[in-house]
Amino acid sequence: METKIQDIQIGKKLFGEDFIWGVSTAALQTEGSCDIDGKGTSIWDTFAAKKGKILNGDNPNNACEFYHQYQRDIDLIKQLNIPNFRFSISWPRILPGGEGEINQAGIDHYNKVIDYCIEKGVKPWITLYHWDLPEALEIKGGWTNREIIEWFSAYVAICAKAFGDRVKNWMVMNEPAVFTGAGYFFGIHAPGRTGLKNFLPAIHHAILSMVAGAKTLRGILPAAQIGTTFSCSHIEPYSNKIKDINAARRADALINRLFIEPVLGLGYPVNEMPVLKDIEKFSLPGDEENLKFDFDFIGIQNYTREIVRYSLFTPYINASLVKAEKRNVELTSMKWEVYPPAIYHMVKKFNGYPQIKKLYITENGAAFPDEVIDDKVNDTKRTAYIQANLQQILKAKDEGYKISGYFIWTLTDNFEWAEGYHPRFGLIYIDFKTQQRIIKASGHWYRDFLSEEVKG
Ligand code: BGC
Repeated sequence: METKIQDIQIGKKLFGEDFIWGVSTAALQTEGSCDIDGKGTSIWDTFAAKKGKILNGDNPNNACEFYHQYQRDIDLIKQLNIPNFRFSISWPRILPGGEGEINQAGIDHYNKVIDYCIEKGVKPWITLYHWDLPEALEIKGGWTNREIIEWFSAYVAICAKAFGDRVKNWMVMNEPAVFTGAGYFFGIHAPGRTGLKNFLPAIHHAILSMVAGAKTLRGILPAAQIGTTFSCSHIEPYSNKIKDINAARRADALINRLFIEPVLGLGYPVNEMPVLKDIEKFSLPGDEENLKFDFDFIGIQNYTREIVRYSLFTPYINASLVKAEKRNVELTSMKWEVYPPAIYHMVKKFNGYPQIKKLYITENGAAFPDEVIDDKVNDTKRTAYIQANLQQILKAKDEGYKISGYFIWTLTDNFEWAEGYHPRFGLIYIDFKTQQRIIKASGHWYRDFLSEEVKG
């Protein structure tokens, strides 16, 4: 008999002793202190300073003040029983000019954060690039300049040497599809560049850099667990018309396959996206080999599904997303559909690549309009979202698909890129005027779930 999802209990024990539980954050979204202790300017500092780029004119200058108050938030992680903390290193804090002179204060800072995690029994998981490119490198072309492979590898080497004695788990990049797509094609994220002329070289150089960074890490830290993370969405055709089915295939190639497949040695998905053939213009002999790396793990990050239909007017891909707002479905503050089965499909999909050794969910979560009432935030929708997603992951696991961990996005409300501070994703509420924190009901729920009190 088929297992019904409502019959699946989600006690932590059901996921097994070795399952990794965590929470994820990123430097730019939480640290603030954008020009303190020798930090260089990042593309997001520059982008946010331009008029009309960020909703409500918000900027990341102070964010959650994690730079100064990291102890307060790591204490909260401890209080919530969360054993693994994924955060990112800010490249411009380590190398204010992107390359060249090292900023010792930046190294000292992350040493303190790592040491404090360890002191509290929280394992640090480092992401090396979560979108905050040093502005000095963007001026030289950023991800469109092939020299970035060397710039990035040098930065990775510095981090590996400085932190590798205590950090075992590394993620080279966060969601290259998003920082190249939103940042170099649509121009809605920093650095705000548009068009194929920027997007295609950015794709190619991002993958070459990701692989060069991974090789650098492996060379310096042979015992490290080296991974990287990819965004993904479950894609469904709008109808069973062949036009829509083919449009959905093309969207799947762009959204889900473009970055993972070259890394696994499968090449770019040119059959579905012939425009990718133009990447050749930016290729050199030997590149095909240098797109491949045998990662110890892959992190997938899923929030929703997309419905795709044929569109004559969308260049290069002839496919468009049918907005969730028009589909009469439950929405998050990001206007993304609440659709927990998406994560089940993604676990299955990535299990379809036998080359992937280990798979984690390195981000999953939801933004809802939280309200503080009597100093409490009763965010029932977020708890329900997380529970439903965990049920789907357990379903996949019970069916034999490999999945080894789950990280919630995110610890505290934070700076949600072009959306500013409006969408609240945290397990912990922040009043951004006072920086006061309130653990939301979802945070209390996660704490109880992670404690032994929950019976499997
Ligand atoms: C990113 C996060 C972001 C989250 C929610 C992911 O794409 O890695 O930085 O805040 O999604 O939008």
